[in-house]
Amino acid sequence: MRGSPVMRSVLTSIKQGIGLETRMRVDLSRSLGINIVDSNGKKYMDMYNNIASLPVGYNHPRMLEAIRNGDWNQHLLQRQSLGVMPTDDWDKQIDNSIGRINPNPATYDVKLTGGCGSVAVENAMKTAFLYKARNEYCRTDYSLTNIAPPYSILSFKGGFHGRTLGSLSATRSKPAHKWGIPAFGWPMSIYPTNKTEETSTLKDVENQLVNDTNIAGVIIEPIAAEGGDIHASPDFFNKLNTLSTRFNVPLIVDEVQTSLGTGKPWAHSTWNCEPDIIVFSKKTQVGGYFLKERYRTKEYEIFNTYCGDALRVLQLGTILDIIDEGNLFESSSRVGGNITSGLNIISNIFPNIISNVRGEGFIIAFDTPSPQLLLKNMEDNGIFASTCGNTSIRLRPSLIFNDNDCEIFLDKLELAVINSNRDKSIYD
Ligand SMILES: Cc1ncc(COP(=O)(O)O)c(C=O)c1O
Repeated sequence: MRGSPVMRSVLTSIKQGIGLETRMRVDLSRSLGINIVDSNGKKYMDMYNNIASLPVGYNHPRMLEAIRNGDWNQHLLQRQSLGVMPTDDWDKQIDNSIGRINPNPATYDVKLTGGCGSVAVENAMKTAFLYKARNEYCRTDYSLTNIAPPYSILSFKGGFHGRTLGSLSATRSKPAHKWGIPAFGWPMSIYPTNKTEETSTLKDVENQLVNDTNIAGVIIEPIAAEGGDIHASPDFFNKLNTLSTRFNVPLIVDEVQTSLGTGKPWAHSTWNCEPDIIVFSKKTQVGGYFLKERYRTKEYEIFNTYCGDALRVLQLGTILDIIDEGNLFESSSRVGGNITSGLNIISNIFPNIISNVRGEGFIIAFDTPSPQLLLKNMEDNGIFASTCGNTSIRLRPSLIFNDNDCEIFLDKLELAVINSNRDKSIYD
């Protein structure tokens, strides 16, 4: 093959299906705690965390201990079809993992779907469709399978819910995600960014629910993450919940990115209501959703080969032990606050580089006029992070990120900001 070694390796990668989106080749064996090491041996503080999905950092000693003890061996060796043939202790394993963070066991069942957020969202939507169909057709006569109702899910401009066909239809963070895909033309409202918009969005949702009886569910993120970490008030979400209840349309809260990340298990726990369906994935390692009893489906209606992943469920149990023992929800809430305070101080000095700092626990973001320029300077100074929305950088440290890490991070970021300020004045 012609070309430089770098070009050859890029071309080979593309042939292997490894995409152009690869930002770093990682040396997993040398990555430790909050630090990631690339294949050239360069170390970075990992504020990207495998797209917000790594809960307790790299090679955590408790996870290694579980491997050494052989605790997970049976599930490392074979992946089960958990829907049809789970082990005898499967209920106990669920109780000891995702069951421990059930927002209210008296209210919610749990359904595991698989490994990624999109599939969890897709099945949560199907659950909403099945609920509506059952209410409307009042029967479970499957000879009526030719009924393909024109139902839809209402979502919000700025929201991201995944890339399978249904979840993509509800995704509205960037037009590029949908390019060339015959996504459903489902209804939409605006993810509000302030009080006035909250009022107009609620009015708009109400009008749509009145005029469009095909809406079977409303889906929203507690923080619109990919769309730019947009925050709305608990009051907005409570009113949205009241509205959807009034129309008997389930409110689906997509906590795929926020689960375990906001200094507590669930971002929606600061609201004063219990939404109908709550979707999780990423830091929980296994994807799925909590649902109220009335949304229970019948056999095989929500189904796939695996219906979860026992290895990831066991890992989640150990992750929750680590979180409990280290009081990591409390500390991520406190340290998250320190990161945002530090960012605000830098923003006061360099408002042209950092502005609009926002955060809840370790779901943190700020605006910057040239995200790629600042990201590069952050990488030069040993911080690995990523963008969200069009003009924001998001920070998603793992829950073990502590006060000392926070000081080091802010020092490094300050240097990156100084460099960006210099680079910017050169380019201006
Ligand atoms: C809120 C939200 N929902 C759904 C998804 C889709 O998850 P996945 O990429 O694991 O399919 C994501 C992914 O970033 C997300 O942030």
